[in-house]
Amino acid sequence: MDGPDDAAVWKLDDERALVATTDFFTPVVDTPYEYGAIAAANSLSDIYAMGGTPFLALNIAALPPDLPVEIASEILRGGAEKCKEAGVVVAGGHTVQDKEPKFGLVALGFVHPQKMLTKGAVRAGDVLVLTKPLGFGVTTTALKRDLVDEADVNEVIGWMSRLNKTGGQLANEFNLRAATDITGFGLLGHGWEMAKASGVGFHLYFERMPFISCARKYAEQWTFPGGSSDNRLFYGTHVNFASGISEMEQMLLFDAQTSGGLLLAVPPEKLAEFERRAQELAQPVWAIGEAVAETGIQVAA
Ligand code: CO
Ligand code: CO
Repeated sequence: MDGPDDAAVWKLDDERALVATTDFFTPVVDTPYEYGAIAAANSLSDIYAMGGTPFLALNIAALPPDLPVEIASEILRGGAEKCKEAGVVVAGGHTVQDKEPKFGLVALGFVHPQKMLTKGAVRAGDVLVLTKPLGFGVTTTALKRDLVDEADVNEVIGWMSRLNKTGGQLANEFNLRAATDITGFGLLGHGWEMAKASGVGFHLYFERMPFISCARKYAEQWTFPGGSSDNRLFYGTHVNFASGISEMEQMLLFDAQTSGGLLLAVPPEKLAEFERRAQELAQPVWAIGEAVAETGIQVAA
């Protein structure tokens, strides 16, 4: 409990540790199947962020009593098919009644105790690599306000429902030590957690940041979710922005993500081979900065 991390890990023997996590949330998109798939990908993400391989999950659902049964079953089907893609068995679960739907998983995985990834193992000099672009929060909130184009919805759903499985596989193959996943606290919140736990600082470069294609359009309409403003309030004191990075651009880095990518610390001597292997696995990766000996987060233009 001293070092908060993405999931609980319980060592079973010298070869295996159990990884346990849970996550659930209200709908982020209007289509029930995709909502289920995104919630499942998000729940499994914390297992990958610990370097683990998920194997078993239980559904957690809270559903309004008047919700049509077809919609409820589509949510569960989206979750179940995403679990199948991950090689995870859904072995039941629990449902209660609630006014607003909520869905997610309890997920269990295994990790080799020597292969575990933590937030606190970043070393100065490590390159910081992101495995999904940013801009999900500002886009899904625009969707809630009926401001979005169909193509943008499909783009953001494609990313949010993507498993962090290959990112985890890369971390394992390259014997990485430090990772987290980018979710509600946004890039800078989760980045700060990692930097603080590791006793290092981060130098990030705005021009290298990946955003989904519609992120700026909705950021200009300021459709950021409440969580993004909270993140700026809470983590802003630890972040120094170069002049020339607008307030809107700063907010995009604080934007609360649902089912975001992994943030991996890659030793610089491994980076070229890591990037080559990522391409082979069709896993996008973006090197967005590096860890440094001083503390705090600096964002250069
Ligand atoms: Co996490
Ligand atoms: Co979580």
